[in-house]
Amino acid sequence: MDIALVVLAAGKGTRMNSDLPKVLHPLAGAPLLIHAMQAGASLSPLHTVVVAGHGADAVRAAVLDHDPATHVVEQIEQLGTAHAAAQARDTLKSFDGTAIVLFGDTPFVHPDTLAAMVQAQADYDVVVLGFEAADPARYGRLVMADDILEKIVEFKDATDAERAITICNSGVIACNSALLFDLIDEIGNDNAAQEYYLPDVVGLARARGLKATVVRCDESETLGINTRAELASAEAAFQARARQQAFEDGVTMPAPDTVYFAFDTVIGRDTVVEPHVVFAPGVTVESGATIRAFSHLEGCHVARGGVIGPYARLRPGTELSENVRVGNFVEMKNARIGTGTKVNHLSYIGDATLGERTNVGAGTITCNYDGVMKHHTHIGDDVFIGSNTMLVAPVHIGDHAMTGSGSVITSDVEPEALALARAPQIEKPGMAKKLFAMLKAKKAQQQRGS
Ligand code: UD1
Ligand code: CA
Repeated sequence: MDIALVVLAAGKGTRMNSDLPKVLHPLAGAPLLIHAMQAGASLSPLHTVVVAGHGADAVRAAVLDHDPATHVVEQIEQLGTAHAAAQARDTLKSFDGTAIVLFGDTPFVHPDTLAAMVQAQADYDVVVLGFEAADPARYGRLVMADDILEKIVEFKDATDAERAITICNSGVIACNSALLFDLIDEIGNDNAAQEYYLPDVVGLARARGLKATVVRCDESETLGINTRAELASAEAAFQARARQQAFEDGVTMPAPDTVYFAFDTVIGRDTVVEPHVVFAPGVTVESGATIRAFSHLEGCHVARGGVIGPYARLRPGTELSENVRVGNFVEMKNARIGTGTKVNHLSYIGDATLGERTNVGAGTITCNYDGVMKHHTHIGDDVFIGSNTMLVAPVHIGDHAMTGSGSVITSDVEPEALALARAPQIEKPGMAKKLFAMLKAKKAQQQRGS
């Protein structure tokens, strides 16, 4: 069955008290609505339509950055969830299949749950995702007669008897696309909120003699974010699950509560992650690596056997081959590092390619930026870069070459050559002794005078 996703993301999120649209607040390094889109993506939808409203330009940019094939439509006025879903009508007018409506502020719906809904859709015209709420509060209530879902009533419109129902509406709905838009046409706003309620499709379908049912999920999947406190709780819930997953994947973490994962972090088996490590988006670490304490990784790849940190920072575009060592206070960005190469202390390696088995001495800097443009540094295999070498890019260091400590290298170095670019040392015999005597006499004179 072909699938189309409709992600509702037009709401303002007043309670976030923010200039940023609610659905763009980050969770595990990705905007909230990207989590909903990712869950939906597991169904390989033919179309994904995001309904933007508040901050539509920013929402469009974030969505297209994540997946350029997404359709972003605009809901100019927020008149309710049915009115929001209706904005996808034109985009899906020739689509023949199941439409699944998701909320952009509900990040944890599990792919298996969506798959169960798609399966139920084969036997029922409308499938709603429901959950048993510990505190049903203001959720819409699912009015059931055995397995048949009769209607959904919003809390504001519910009778006392309906408010006593504890099975609630998550907001996720699956329905044949053409039927969904047909039912939406019939929805009015004669209710307590004077909004067009998407859940009204259930009662309208029943009135036509169509069948509706509920697929149930755990309440934790339907967690919707409305406040910054809820965002923080959601982050904690995400991290708890990610840590558990890492253990199951064979990752060792002596202090899991201090390790932070992004939505897309991938870590191989028998890798050790020491305390206080942060994985920002876009990191993959292969098996048998060690990420030592207080390191920060983003947009990088660490191959087998790599040892990173403590206190290392790997920035986007860093690509490490096997058995690379990146030591303390080393920063790398847009750098490809060959097998077995070591950059162990206090260095900046940016916009660079390093060969295999090369050793970069402490305090080395690739001077990649001239104030206007970025330039590349290329270092070959089996090179020895002396401590405190400044490599003024663009520059090329040949295989088996050496640079002397403290050199400022501004031109290319041939393979096997030693390059020295520093003032020669001069020595003045006895001069230190004379200087000390002079300085001590001066200090004694000052102390007498005061
Ligand atoms: C909705 C459901 C309720 C359910 C609850 C679950 C309706 C009428 N009610 O209530 O049954 O229990 O979710 O959390 O659907 N949105 C738009 N445009 C609009 C209105 C909303 O895009 O005009 C988006 C919001 O940005 C949000 C989502 O739809 O992502 C849900 O809207 P919200 O106003 O939060 O619905 P609830 O009142 O929570
Ligand atoms: Ca809500």
